[in-house]
Amino acid sequence: MQNDVPITILAIESSCDDTAAAVIKDGKILANIVADQKVHEKYGGVVPELASRAHQQNIVPVVQAALEQAGITKNDLSAIAFTVGPGLMGSLLVGASFAKSLALGLNIPLIAVNHMQGHILAHFIKDEEEQKVPSFPFLCLTVSGGHTQLVVIKDYLEMEVVGSTLDDAAGEAFDKAGKIMGLPYPAGPIIDKKAKEGNANAFQFTLPRVADNAFSFSGIKSSFLYFLQAQVKTDQDFVQKNLNDLCASIQYTIVKHLLDKFRKAIEKYDVQDIAICGGVSANTHLRSSVAELGKELDKNVFVPKFEYCTDNAAMIAITAHFQYKAQDFSDQSVRPQARLSI
Ligand code: KG4
Ligand code: ZN
Repeated sequence: MQNDVPITILAIESSCDDTAAAVIKDGKILANIVADQKVHEKYGGVVPELASRAHQQNIVPVVQAALEQAGITKNDLSAIAFTVGPGLMGSLLVGASFAKSLALGLNIPLIAVNHMQGHILAHFIKDEEEQKVPSFPFLCLTVSGGHTQLVVIKDYLEMEVVGSTLDDAAGEAFDKAGKIMGLPYPAGPIIDKKAKEGNANAFQFTLPRVADNAFSFSGIKSSFLYFLQAQVKTDQDFVQKNLNDLCASIQYTIVKHLLDKFRKAIEKYDVQDIAICGGVSANTHLRSSVAELGKELDKNVFVPKFEYCTDNAAMIAITAHFQYKAQDFSDQSVRPQARLSI
């Protein structure tokens, strides 16, 4: 590969309910477009069939907008990247088919990116400002709507999952608690906002007892549900009257469980740099708690910018950039995988 030829990649992310496209040139993001899907709000969760249809409608305009924002045409591209998994199969298929056709039409390489690696490598996205990045090896708490993992990152494309959830993911715990309180999907950001006005000690929910390297959120959800059912029997307006306190208390419990496990893993793996990523890493209480934990344990803490926490294509683009440099390309037979480990 010649050094003077720029590496310009178009990356597409369509694993769940966001249709996203980004352009990266020599590791620097030139465009980052996300179209979210409001259609799921009233259903209390993502409806896979509706998500695929919305991706189909959004993908061409989103890619066009990304190319325009980057100030390039498709003929300037060196490769096309897409999310190969994990995710919803119907959603992944839309991005994969689009990326394959475009790469074939332009006769350029195709790069299949793991969504979870993308969340982690979001820490290496370079945009306008100079920023510090984690040094290898580092430990990352990956918390999204579909995953909760502890990952040791040894190099850009060399990662090991050292802990994970036995049942629900942290984002699911937020969303399900929100659904129980009658909040729209996704409830995580709403709970975060309301919690700021509430008392986190108002109500106590039992913390799960699981192995050091495991998380579990289904018990928290059940105790929250049973508690509310009991309260509503005596006061129908209990949730409305106590909404901010309920949000603060459930958020405190979820974050406490995450932090307890993160602390144990930091001690065990003895790394100097620690990070969080994924949609739930946008949570303000988690962000400030991890910053405090880092101070207490004398570790360097890395927290992504808000726009790179929830699903986006910039994280797929930076991962694709490292894969391009490693010549990690896929052929047209590559198939999306709903379940895919790091
Ligand atoms: O990473 P992401 O965008 O999609 C997946 O890969 O799953 O994560 C979405 C999840 C949702 O469950 C959403 O409620 C949660 O991230 N989330 C938050 C916040 N922002 C997004 N949870 C708590 N507090 C937030 N501020
Ligand atoms: Zn995600």
